[in-house]
Parts: sequence; structure tokens; C-alpha cells
Amino acid sequence: MHPSAAKFLLLLVAAASSFLSVASHGLPPRQLKRNASCVPHERDALLAFKENITSDPEGILSSWRRGRKDCCRWMGVTCSNQTGHVLELDLSYRNLAGQISPSLLSLEHLEHLDLGGTYLSGHDGRFPEFLCSFKNLRYLDLSFLSFASRLPAQLGNLSTLEYLYLNDAYSLPSEVPPQLGNLSNLRHLGLAYNYLYTTDISWLVRLHQLEYLDMAGINLSTIDNWLHVVNMIPSLKSLSLRNCSLPRANQSLTHINLTKLEMLVLSKNYFGHPIASSWFWNITSIQQLELYSTYLYGPFPDALGRMTSLSYLGFWENGNSATMAVDLKNLCELDTLLLDGSLSSGNITEFIEKLPQCSSSKLQHLNLNDNNMTGIMPHVMGHLTSLAALSLSNNSISGSISPGLQNFTSLEELFLSSNHLSGQIPLLPRGLVWAFSLRSSKY
Ligand SMILES: *[C@@H]1O[C@H](CO)[C@@H](O)[C@H](O)[C@H]1NC(C)=O
Ligand SMILES: *[C@@H]1O[C@H](CO)[C@@H](O)[C@H](O)[C@H]1NC(C)=O
Ligand SMILES: *[C@@H]1O[C@H](CO)[C@@H](O)[C@H](O)[C@H]1NC(C)=O
Ligand SMILES: *[C@@H]1O[C@H](CO)[C@@H](O)[C@H](O)[C@H]1NC(C)=O
Repeated sequence: MHPSAAKFLLLLVAAASSFLSVASHGLPPRQLKRNASCVPHERDALLAFKENITSDPEGILSSWRRGRKDCCRWMGVTCSNQTGHVLELDLSYRNLAGQISPSLLSLEHLEHLDLGGTYLSGHDGRFPEFLCSFKNLRYLDLSFLSFASRLPAQLGNLSTLEYLYLNDAYSLPSEVPPQLGNLSNLRHLGLAYNYLYTTDISWLVRLHQLEYLDMAGINLSTIDNWLHVVNMIPSLKSLSLRNCSLPRANQSLTHINLTKLEMLVLSKNYFGHPIASSWFWNITSIQQLELYSTYLYGPFPDALGRMTSLSYLGFWENGNSATMAVDLKNLCELDTLLLDGSLSSGNITEFIEKLPQCSSSKLQHLNLNDNNMTGIMPHVMGHLTSLAALSLSNNSISGSISPGLQNFTSLEELFLSSNHLSGQIPLLPRGLVWAFSLRSSKY
């Protein structure tokens, strides 16, 4: 396999597993392009940047030419329409390869730099530390890049940052010669993929305006105080530390500063301690909470029932050792509850009764596959009028399939296979994806 093909594969895998975080990056609105002509020395800086690009298969920099004077019209460039200064550079996911030229520093007004998903890096494949000198940067995306060095503490100099995406960056071992890029023999590269790691994140506390932080995939296993660092950034709205080799989430905090937190992703860290001892259950601002493959176990705490902003709870693939007896009736914003492969037991009737009871139900996706659930399929689910997808496969649910399901006008997907159900399959008003197991007479 060609090196870039291998990287593409890695990107695909990582992209699939980080769909949630990517989808919710919440890009700020783009500035409208206008006729404002660009500043000559900024144009020179961009041309110098282009000189260090070794591969541009999509030709996205083909508009970057000295003959086309107005660099504000070049692809990926956005200028202020008052001053003509370059405010935004977005070259993400365009297969660009090469070195990130320090000439970019001439773009003194730059607020938004997105190089995510490219094959760019700093000199000798290292982290481009000079990026830490931008004075006005609000948005920095270096996700999916590879660096032959650790994250520099100077990132803390970017005190105006609101968005920082370092997720799924990976490292090439520093002993590999810089000529690595010329190797066509992939077997050498295959050894080279490691996730980036860092032993110090204390620089984060200097980012006083940071709202969105994604460090998914960066190995933070040696940083036992990571939560205390994060708790010193009260501006945070979104935090993803998926697959960071975090050892635990049961630290005790005397005071929780993260009162603006709306999204928390801690999936794919092996915690293996009781769910209820985790630190985040008191943060009632959380809207999206993702905890798949954390192997948290035991009962969910009652505090979950007080997280009234919660719209998404992703808690799947957790080894069937959790229980959920919490009364969720006040979670009126809840639209997605994904618990596949995580519960050790449970009674479907009791479970359904505890779901939100609100004047207008928002619950659309309920996944309870592979959970050892027993009990009789409830016939009355009048509080779940918005349900679009219901998955109950591979449990021990008995009884007959509710004819009442016919009244669920929003239902599009119903998965009931591998249970002990009987009765008529009701005709559902919408285009349905049925998934019955036809191996036996039982559905
Ligand atoms: C960046 O931070 C380092 C300490 O982490 C400091 O020594 C340096 O002077 C800072 N650089 C700039 C350009 O502010
Ligand atoms: C993370 O780093 C630690 C310590 O260097 C190491 O033991 C562990 O294997 C790493 N985890 C992963 C997933 O690479
Ligand atoms: C809360 O955040 C502020 C501001 O960053 C910090 O000074 C304080 O120490 C934090 N409190 C705790 C308990 O970490
Ligand atoms: C979280 O809430 C529980 C019960 O409401 C309370 O006992 C505990 O002190 C709170 N913890 C923090 C850190 O606020």
C-alpha cells in the first residue's frame, strides 16, 4: 500500500469513529467573500506557503498565482471585507502534502486556520511550533495530521483560541529519518503509526476563551490530573477525550467549574469503575454525553434523572454490567438513548415506563439491543409519540407485538429479532426497515 493510501485508511477509520465529534464541531459562519483586494505582503506569504506544498492532486491551489492579484479570491482564503486582511485559511481535507511554511506568520490578522485532514506538517515532520505565535487565532484545526514530535506547551500562548482540534493526530517516531516521505516501501511506515502522546497539558489552562476542545486519540495516560486541568477552563462547551488512554473518571472535584459544558465525550477509555462514581453527573448543562466502550459498570446514578438538558446519551458496548433503574421522566430534551450491549439485566416494561413523560416527547432513537432484557413487550407507549427508531433485538422479551405500534406515525425502523415475541407484525404507516429473524417461529 502506498503511504498516502495507508493514511487515508487511517483517516477513514478515525473519521468513522469520531463521527459525533466531527459532526458537532459547530463551525462559525464564514465571512462573505467580496471584492476587497488583498494586502501585498499577505499575498507573498501565501505564495511562499504554496512553494512548500509538494502535492496538491486536486489542484486546489491552482488559483494561487501571482498573476491573480486578489488573493482574497483564492480558494480557501477569506479576507476581511473592510481591510482586505486574510482572516481565514481553510485547506482541510484536500489531500495537500508538504511543509507548513512559517511564512504564514505574516498573516497577522488570521483568526481561523483549518488544515485538518491534510498531509501537512512542520519542518522535518515536526509539530509546526511557530503556529503558536498567532495573536488573533480563534480557530485551529490540526486534526488527523501526523507529527514526529510531541505537542508543544507553547500552544498555551494562543490565548484567543475558542476552537482547538488536535484529534486523531498521530506521530511518526522521531528516530525515523525525515526522508521517510520518499520511501515507497510501506512496510516501514506500517510500524510508524502511533497516536500522538503528551505528558503535559497544563498549558491548556492559559486558553481562557476555549470553548471547543478535541484531543481524541492523543495518549494522556500519564496525566493523572487531566480533570483538574480541564476544570480550570470554565469557558468549555465541548470536550472530547475519546480514546485518550485515560485511566479513570472517578476523580473527586470539590467544585465543578464546567458549568457551560454541553458536550462531553469520554468513549474508548477503559475506566472499569462504577458509573456512579464518575465526576460529571452533576453537570446539568450537558446535552450530549458519549461513553461507549468505557466499561463503566453498576447502576446509573439518580443524578442522571436531573440532567434535564440531556438530548443524547451514548453508552454502548460496555460489557453488559450496567443497570438502569433511573427515573428519566423529566428528561424532556432526550432524543437519543443508545444502550446496546451494556445492561446486565432489566425489565422492558419497567424501562419503558421510566422514559420521559413530557407534554411533547422528543425521544426518537431508542437502542436496547443485546441487553439481557426480559419482560413483556409493553402495549401502551403513549409517551413516546416521536419514536423513529426502536431497536430491541437479541433480548428475552416476550409477549405479542403491540398492534398499537401502528399508531406510531414517526416510526421508520423497528428491530425486534431474537426475542420471544409472537403475534402479528403490524403494518406501519411509514417506510419501515424490518429486521426480524426468520430462523424460527419466534421473532
Ligand atoms: C510562548 O510561551 C513560552 C512559554 O510556554 C514563552 O517562553 C514564549 O515567550 C511565548 N512566545 C510568545 C511568542 O509569546
Ligand atoms: C499510552 O501510553 C502509555 C505510556 O507511554 C503506554 O503504556 C500505552 O500503551 C499507550 N496506549 C496506547 C493505546 O498506545
Ligand atoms: C475554576 O476556574 C478558575 C478559572 O480558571 C480557576 O482559577 C479555579 O482554580 C478553578 N477551580 C477549580 C476548583 O479548579
Ligand atoms: C453532586 O450532587 C450530589 C447530590 O446532589 C452532591 O451530594 C455532591 O456534593 C455534588 N457534587 C459536586 C462536586 O457538586
